[in-house]
Amino acid sequence: MATQWFLVFESVEKAQSFILEGKSITVDVGEKQICLFRKGQLFIATASVCPHQGAPMSRAWCDDEGGIICPYHRYRYHCENGRDLSSGGDPLTIYPVEIRPTGLYVGIETKKAWWQMF
Ligand code: FES
Repeated sequence: MATQWFLVFESVEKAQSFILEGKSITVDVGEKQICLFRKGQLFIATASVCPHQGAPMSRAWCDDEGGIICPYHRYRYHCENGRDLSSGGDPLTIYPVEIRPTGLYVGIETKKAWWQMF
């Protein structure tokens, strides 16, 4: 496995203007659809569906204690590691986010093609 980095926004300012405080947008990153949340200066990239029963995380929100709340059953997930803080069930997938001079990037784990293994 290798992390492939995808440019999502060309600047933090642009990302801040697109994503409301405590909310998210859905974006296509490589072959995946993810949700990108903003909490203050922090950006959090997650799976686009809840691991509990598949609610669209685009309708989730961030609370003030570092949790992401699913809109269906209000399960709370840790914004850094995705841990299910409500029931101890499956975690929400969290993707790494990097702010670079060239913009905001999200990292996705990709399998290496066989010819890249040597
Ligand atoms: S579908 Fe998200 S908590 Fe149930």
